Amino acid sequence: MIKQARFLISNTDVSKCPPPDRPEYAFIGRSNVGKSSLINMLTGQKNLAKISTLPGKTQLINHFIIDETWYLVDLPGYGYAKLSVSVKEKFQKLISKYILNRENLYCLFVLIDIRHEPQKIDVEFITWLGENHIPFAIIFTKADKLGKVSVEKNRAAYIQELSKIWEELPPILVSSSLNGTGREEIISFIENVNVS
Ligand code: GTP
Ligand code: MG
Repeated sequence: MIKQARFLISNTDVSKCPPPDRPEYAFIGRSNVGKSSLINMLTGQKNLAKISTLPGKTQLINHFIIDETWYLVDLPGYGYAKLSVSVKEKFQKLISKYILNRENLYCLFVLIDIRHEPQKIDVEFITWLGENHIPFAIIFTKADKLGKVSVEKNRAAYIQELSKIWEELPPILVSSSLNGTGREEIISFIENVNVS
């Protein structure tokens, strides 16, 4: 489904991103949630995006071009407690500047670890996206770490939490970078948005 993927550029400056001339999809979420791993899983290239067992690995805006027609973007994570306040603020500014200014951002994927109960930081972030009219979808990650029943239970609990503040829910997908769960669904989702 993805024939070719290659790295384009990393930077800390939104104005130095590639020209906004194609549909763009970016991955955001807490540090260590699996953003970079998901990009590797979707593209079928193990080492395209850099991953680490330690949170805080991705520190730049990383652009990849897919089949020469659309962009995937790996972003730094938010909410990593061990970073200093000034570094956290720097990341936050970088992320919000990118999200608010990137005109070709067709959809932002907000990644959430399926194992956890709804966390304040994610709910607040999603609320901020809504307030700013940013198109987004949720992808639950690490589904391989739970059984099917627990995945469904946690998914339902999240939907219930979001329903408290949202009349209409965003698209919600489930993934595992370990076993490829969600690959076709996520790529089909992107391809549908590309042509719409
Ligand atoms: P930062 O760049 O630090 O914000 O992290 P990230 O969100 O990019 O996470 P990354 O892809 O680097 O993965 C973090 C850790 O989680 C690594 O040890 C991965 O191997 C592991 N991981 C990521 N996705 C999955 C998954 O679907 N299943 C399992 N079991 N482990 C995963
Ligand atoms: Mg990363």
